Amino acid sequence: MDSVHFLLFLAVSAFTVKVSLQGAEQHRLYHDLMSNYNPLVRPVGNDSESLTVHFGLTLRQIMDVDEKNQVLTTNIWLQLYWDDFYLRWNPSDYPGVPNVRFPDNLIWKPDILLYNSADERFDATFHTNILVNSSGTCSYLPPVSYYIQYVFVLPSQIDSFELLYFYDEQLGHLMWYIPFFIILFIYFTGCFTKAREQKKIPVSGWLLLGPSSLYYWYLVTEGQITELFLLTFLAMVVVVIIKQRKGLSPDSNGLFLFCSFSVTVLLVALWVIYLWSDPVLRNKYPGLIYVPEPWSYYTLHIKQDH
Ligand SMILES: *[C@@H]1O[C@H](CO)[C@@H](O)[C@H](O)[C@H]1NC(C)=O
Ligand SMILES: *[C@@H]1O[C@H](CO)[C@@H](O)[C@H](O)[C@H]1NC(C)=O
Repeated sequence: MDSVHFLLFLAVSAFTVKVSLQGAEQHRLYHDLMSNYNPLVRPVGNDSESLTVHFGLTLRQIMDVDEKNQVLTTNIWLQLYWDDFYLRWNPSDYPGVPNVRFPDNLIWKPDILLYNSADERFDATFHTNILVNSSGTCSYLPPVSYYIQYVFVLPSQIDSFELLYFYDEQLGHLMWYIPFFIILFIYFTGCFTKAREQKKIPVSGWLLLGPSSLYYWYLVTEGQITELFLLTFLAMVVVVIIKQRKGLSPDSNGLFLFCSFSVTVLLVALWVIYLWSDPVLRNKYPGLIYVPEPWSYYTLHIKQDH
């Protein structure tokens, strides 16, 4: 045994000796207190006496508010104090034992239960020990995770919110974008010519192609209108083919729109490929056509980094 181990041994022995010394008194005290104790008996000196329980409640955290099911998940700390007539002792008879701890099923404890608990176990109290000091004061401080059933918003109001959301997010988008793309398409069908000199896109047009494509990319992704966009683009391709049989081809305006849409298709495809294996976004956009919104990408990946 080298010196370090020997010192460690000494330290451990000292600690053990101290504990065992205190343990003897504690052992005797537990024995004396419990020898005639019945946890069913209300711990008062005279049965006609009332027993006061001091009750405290600290809300430590609101963990979740499930509006739809109207359940509030909280983390609460209860503080219960009462005096147990049968758990008193003279401190000088048991030196070094200022207090003792009891598992909560061994001694009497007040029966306090949250009535509107939504927990499947109903009582979600974490059963901690009860601390008792020599004057018989019991302190019981259990932490509780409560699922509290609350009635806050009427269900019909929630339904109408969801309906509103649906109109705003899906129907609203389509009501706005369907006429928009129909008008663009009608405009496009008029942009055909036979004249060779009208088929050139000017330099300013080429410069505007990038912003224009980006704009349509944003409409498609944020508006979640990929199907509508692809349908319009397909219709434009068909028109180009039909017009070409008549010897017509898009003029500079038509060509600009067609090129913008082509680049947009490319941008959307790149966007989808880039986010293809993102598990969170995959979960949020479970539909057949997976095109995440830039806003989701922003909240998920950019916002957290700053
Ligand atoms: C209990 O209290 C009542 C009223 O205070 C009293 O009449 C009775 O004598 C008491 N009983 C004992 C055993 O002390
Ligand atoms: C026991 O605890 C109570 C409440 O904390 C306190 O008022 C009382 O003085 C304590 N008694 C002793 C002997 O420490």
